[in-house]
Amino acid sequence: METNYIIRRMQDKDIPQALEIDHEAFPTQWPHPTYASIKHELRNHLAHYMVAINPLDPRSEGVKKTDDDHNFGHRLLQIKHLFDHDRFFGEEKTSSTTDYLVGIAGSWTMLDEAHIITIATRGNCRRQGIGELLLISVIDMVTQLKSNIVTLEVRVSNTPAQALYEKYSFRKVGLRRRYYSDNGEDAFIMTVEDITSASFQSLFQQLKEAHRKERADLYA
Ligand SMILES: CC(C)(COP(=O)(O)OP(=O)(O)OC[C@H]1O[C@@H](n2cnc3c(N)ncnc32)[C@H](O)[C@@H]1OP(=O)(O)O)[C@@H](O)C(=O)NCCC(=O)NCCS
Repeated sequence: METNYIIRRMQDKDIPQALEIDHEAFPTQWPHPTYASIKHELRNHLAHYMVAINPLDPRSEGVKKTDDDHNFGHRLLQIKHLFDHDRFFGEEKTSSTTDYLVGIAGSWTMLDEAHIITIATRGNCRRQGIGELLLISVIDMVTQLKSNIVTLEVRVSNTPAQALYEKYSFRKVGLRRRYYSDNGEDAFIMTVEDITSASFQSLFQQLKEAHRKERADLYA
């Protein structure tokens, strides 16, 4: 089935669903983000949040009706144009229609370092390539922002996420003891360096190509 998923910048109208996804993915996190805290983040020029949308889900009011560029606001960053700078960083047209979010990702960039704050897919949408699509999108975006290092924290027990990051050459470079206040769990610090290097970019292109082939339904 063709789905033609869309990745675009998060907008205020997405916040309720982003909160839903966040609460489901990180149920024990405290404090939970709130509508106000995410709205604040979306206005922080160091922060970059994106969403993955399933346009064929009946809850995607705006996107499923549109198949042309007149409704470009809904399709701001369609995957086939994912790497076009203007579609992510250019002036954004917003709309009030609802798009059904299947995943979210957020990062901060400071100087040449990007920090992934969150990546999460809805529980019933996992293992379909969406988390990887979001990670690809984050790496592409921060590369365009001239970051050279990407770093993040991940629970030592979170082996699915670690496997995702390791696939993209993130390595465990340290441990933050008792980083998570809910249960005192440690965090691995995982980092990938030199993302602008020819060797990383070559590997990244191969991984993107493989994802595009294996998950053709996302790109249809
Ligand atoms: C981590 C998470 C974002 C992965 O999203 P997803 O959409 O299921 O991931 P994908 O289907 O794109 O999988 C991509 C890769 O991740 C790894 N992966 C994902 N789920 C996995 C699992 N359950 N077990 C092992 N590896 C897994 C694999 O390397 C996979 O590549 P493969 O398909 O070639 O094996 C998702 O499990 C999630 O939202 N978890 C809760 C939130 C969270 O922990 N976020 C990370 C915080 S640091």
